[in-house]
Amino acid sequence: MDLDAPAPRPSGARLADTLGRPLRELRVSVTDRCNLRCTYCMPRERFQAHAFAPRAALLTFEELARVAGVFRDLGVRKIRLTGGEPLLRSGLPELVRRLRPLGVELALTTNGLLLPRLAAPLAAAGLDRVTLSLDGLDEAAFARMVDAPYRPADVLAGLDAALAAGLGPVKVNCVVRRGMNEDQVIPLAARFRGTGVVVRFIEYMDVGQTNGWNRREVVTAEEVLATLSSEWPLEAVEPERLGEPALRFRYRDGAGEVGIVASVTRPFCRGCSRARLSAVGELHTCLFSGPSLSLKEPLRAGVDDTALAGLLASRWSARTDRYSELRGDSLVELRARPEMSALGG
Ligand code: GTP
Ligand code: 5AD
Ligand code: SF4
Ligand code: SF4
Repeated sequence: MDLDAPAPRPSGARLADTLGRPLRELRVSVTDRCNLRCTYCMPRERFQAHAFAPRAALLTFEELARVAGVFRDLGVRKIRLTGGEPLLRSGLPELVRRLRPLGVELALTTNGLLLPRLAAPLAAAGLDRVTLSLDGLDEAAFARMVDAPYRPADVLAGLDAALAAGLGPVKVNCVVRRGMNEDQVIPLAARFRGTGVVVRFIEYMDVGQTNGWNRREVVTAEEVLATLSSEWPLEAVEPERLGEPALRFRYRDGAGEVGIVASVTRPFCRGCSRARLSAVGELHTCLFSGPSLSLKEPLRAGVDDTALAGLLASRWSARTDRYSELRGDSLVELRARPEMSALGG
């Protein structure tokens, strides 16, 4: 416990980090496990002998809901549940039910495989919307990316279940990796144009220490935009708020929007208002930084909400992270980088 932590700000007062960024979004990883082995996230050979967190190490739903409430009081307006694959956490609708009274937007990022069973109970529990990962429509390209015995049709079944349950607007994420699936950009965009589902193409990031990231494998936003524009005229859409991960574009023919998450070539740290909580209860103030605070010990030692708010507020106030903007600086490269599967993106 940090006894010097400042008292929490009265609700409504502005909490900001050293770069003036408020705390607005919390990404909560509910498990570090996954039923896929995406090559860019959990390369099979590196995760064969990986020690996943034991059940007792995970924050309980009660603990998560309490922490989320304190974050809400500090300014968080959106909570995104992530993993690993969040739908592998048993009883997830119960967590959603506990978070609903906080009155914040509740979203979930998933690979979609378990949505046919879980979309309806999650919607009934109060989940607002989902984002699905789908790296290709072609079976071979999809298999190359996810390295597990599933097909794009399995994800599309999850997407249909999400739409049927009213978990929209639904978004689809596609990480683009050179030599693996860049030929899927046009088919994916074509499949979802005009359906109301927004596809976002994501630059392959150097997150974690297992994917052997190489800048040459990054298909840049510029390239993706050129590919899309060669097929359909596009126009840029103004961001709704500072620090939005995706650049947004509108099809000029009225068929909706498409997005590009360009964290490598167009970093968006300047407006980054996201905190992340790992499944084992560690607070990360950047996708690329190690834990800045373990919440599990204070929680299990009986910390009260006021002291917890003080701890969180003092960590956020001290935050300096802007990794994507500093990428390439050799000093930054030396830092321990958490795995995507522990932080959920
Ligand atoms: P929306 O509310 O739908 O806009 O969600 P989102 O884009 O915040 O979340 P999603 O889980 O769909 O993430 C999309 C991609 O952006 C993933 O590859 C994330 O890892 C990446 N991403 C999200 N937030 C950040 C961030 O703060 N920094 C970096 N570098 N990447 C991020
Ligand atoms: N680079 C970019 N995006 C990634 N994701 C996972 N690993 C990476 C990476 N190395 C994506 C997932 C999911 C989102 C939360 O993050 O595909 O859509
Ligand atoms: Fe699982 Fe998502 Fe990582 Fe793929 S990107 S291995 S679906 S957690
Ligand atoms: Fe935020 Fe870190 Fe991503 Fe920059 S690199 S946008 S600071 S999470």
